[in-house]
Amino acid sequence: MIPVFRPFSDGKEIEYLKAVLDSGWWGMGSRTREFEEKFAAYIGRKYAIGLNSATAALDLAFKCIDIRNREVITTPMTFVSTNHAILYNQGIPVFCDIEPDTLNIDASRIEALVTERTKAIIVVHYGGYACAMDEIMSIADKYNLYVVEDCAHACGGEYRGRKLGSIGQAGCFSFQAVKNLSTGDGGMLVTDDPEWYDFLQKYRWVGITKDTFSRDKDGYDWFYDVVNLGHKFHMNDITAAIGLAQFEKLAWMNRRRQELTMKYNNALRELKQVEIPPVKSYMRPSYHNYVIKTEGREDLRTYLRERDISTGVHYYPNHLYEMYKPYYRRLEVVETIWKKLVTLPLFPDLKEQEQDLIINSIKDFFAPH
Ligand SMILES: Cc1ncc(COP(=O)(O)O)c(C=O)c1O
Repeated sequence: MIPVFRPFSDGKEIEYLKAVLDSGWWGMGSRTREFEEKFAAYIGRKYAIGLNSATAALDLAFKCIDIRNREVITTPMTFVSTNHAILYNQGIPVFCDIEPDTLNIDASRIEALVTERTKAIIVVHYGGYACAMDEIMSIADKYNLYVVEDCAHACGGEYRGRKLGSIGQAGCFSFQAVKNLSTGDGGMLVTDDPEWYDFLQKYRWVGITKDTFSRDKDGYDWFYDVVNLGHKFHMNDITAAIGLAQFEKLAWMNRRRQELTMKYNNALRELKQVEIPPVKSYMRPSYHNYVIKTEGREDLRTYLRERDISTGVHYYPNHLYEMYKPYYRRLEVVETIWKKLVTLPLFPDLKEQEQDLIINSIKDFFAPH
């Protein structure tokens, strides 16, 4: 069976992991710090905080902002962590409809949702295709709102030459098993705010003022204070070792994703029953996934499954989930379009014959019989 996603390793991960295992320091230490420094420089931000997931990063971004009893304008077309992070912090999600082509939050509908209670906007760069950030940032400036970028799909993607994650007040990245840069599980929050950075360094490590690594410099200094009711959200050096190995080939892996996307686009563009992902002039995507839109989605998925090709659906609109019913608003576009979405296999080492099989099977499915 060809999977929808598959992480890629070329052996560097094992080499770096072995060094960490042999070093005797497996917790949060020098490798985590190295990964944070390289990642912050890559995204173009002052600070990066290594975490155990993007779910933690999103939760922490809203803790920094403080959204209690305040509204956050958000998208339903996402993995549920984006919206759970609002609820973890006693905020109120206000769902905004999406653009029918990019599946990103529709910037032209945001301003109508702003009220006196609005505190922030969260955007998800769906599939690593940038949201319309100029429009979103100008609404945020006008009403004095924070902007959080959910960059779970967007590692390496750009908006008008700027790395995604460098535009809002916080960028939240995922290194979960199928992401463009994967460590199994992991995440990173990037920001330029020194006060947030100071708070987060403690908060991710149960509120302790000095982590074990910084206390180990000149002989082990046992004393620390505890200053906030933090969580255990930090990254460790085992995760960071894999992250550093992945980071070295991120540009190559993203280029492979782009090549595969171009091949899909060129082959599927001619099918009138299929809509291919759009690329706008302002975006340089990270090509996290390959999502087509078509009527009769389930028949196509069954047809492909019978040919050993897995497909996915990303996502069931979050405002339709049972627990999000209190926040339901009718959203015409997303409620229609999600039924057409099919995620096709896309990962750096997808073989040529595998992609040909996928393309030919889709063409066969739509060919007049
Ligand atoms: C858009 C989006 N946001 C957040 C997350 C959560 O990431 P993590 O699994 O690292 O917590 C994901 C993961 O699938 C995601 O796709």
